[in-house]
Amino acid sequence: MIHSAKTMRCLSADNVAALVAQHGLAACIAGIADNIAADFKRWQEFEKSSRLATHSPLGVIELMPIADQQYYAFKYVNGHPKNEQLGLPTIMAFGALCEMDTGAPLLVCDLTLITALRTAATSALVAKWVARPNSKSMALIGNGAQSEFQAVGFHHLLEVTEFHLFDVDYKATDKLLRNLAKLGLKGRRFTSVAEAVQGVDIITTITADKTNATILLPDDIKPGMHINGVGGDCPGKTELHADILDMGPVFVEYAPQSRIEGEVQQKPQDFPVIELWELLQGRHPGRTNPDNVTIFDSVGFALEDFSALRYVHDLANRLGVAGSPALIPSLPDPKNLFSFMPPAL
Ligand SMILES: NC(=O)c1ccc[n+]([C@@H]2O[C@H](COP(=O)([O-])OP(=O)(O)OC[C@H]3O[C@@H](n4cnc5c(N)ncnc54)[C@H](O)[C@@H]3O)[C@@H](O)[C@H]2O)c1
Repeated sequence: MIHSAKTMRCLSADNVAALVAQHGLAACIAGIADNIAADFKRWQEFEKSSRLATHSPLGVIELMPIADQQYYAFKYVNGHPKNEQLGLPTIMAFGALCEMDTGAPLLVCDLTLITALRTAATSALVAKWVARPNSKSMALIGNGAQSEFQAVGFHHLLEVTEFHLFDVDYKATDKLLRNLAKLGLKGRRFTSVAEAVQGVDIITTITADKTNATILLPDDIKPGMHINGVGGDCPGKTELHADILDMGPVFVEYAPQSRIEGEVQQKPQDFPVIELWELLQGRHPGRTNPDNVTIFDSVGFALEDFSALRYVHDLANRLGVAGSPALIPSLPDPKNLFSFMPPAL
């Protein structure tokens, strides 16, 4: 019997935003972080692959599939740093959570907002494990679409209260300052990266430029800092000076993908990295000394979207958000697809 269309949900960007608002942004980021932690702890149960990336001179389009025995999930996502000039976001995404036993899509939804939530959730989760305990201040370098969500994630999961902001685009920082104020969070504008990172516990780099940038230089890094490098996520698109990667343990999501796309693309193939599952399963000690520098070389892995899709699916069920159920035809006789055709006029 074909899977009933009644169990299927199609959530638009508006539906997803309403769902997040109803449950609360911070609660959603925390809930997604819990799912991500739970899923990385059972890493061995997943069929994993590096994402399929199709490049053009202006950006990249990626397909990110992953599956366990119960669910298959994928995300479509782009990364086009110059899109703002055309009135489009740098990152746009949608995806699906499907049932392995039948192949039926259970949830198809916008993932643009959810990508920001799951990225913030992953960043904050990793920092919770390896940043210095009682970290209270963070520099946010790059004040675009993702930045508010990073601030909320770090505030609610780590109690970070002081945000040092820098962006080459003055208006982006204006926007972030306004939005942080609405959230009851305090941001402070700086006029250079070097000034913004002075004295902070955590540095998040989350800029967008299709180039090997050196947003952070070795001199910017002081003992004890945690670096959350998010914007280097494509071949030829990095943010950290390569020598920074020698300053402390480098944590990655999935090494085969990170070696192509992450900061570690600047290093030889055998450069030592620790995959997050090793940390979360207790196979790596993480930070061993308050003076350690720790580095999360984030590129975004399909498992984070799998965890987020599971979260959205459960939340929509719990809150009874129906969305539109009509993505796949519901057929009384599964062999009579023709019956689904409207009568000819
Ligand atoms: N690792 C992940 O999981 C993940 C997830 C989502 C996004 N990303 C990446 O994060 C980055 C930010 O995404 P977004 O949606 O916020 O993009 P965005 O275009 O909305 O914002 C990027 C900001 O970076 C600023 N910027 C560019 N160069 C800079 C520089 N040299 N110094 C300071 N600021 C600079 C831009 O002015 C812009 O305000 C992108 O590179 C994206 O690919 C990674």
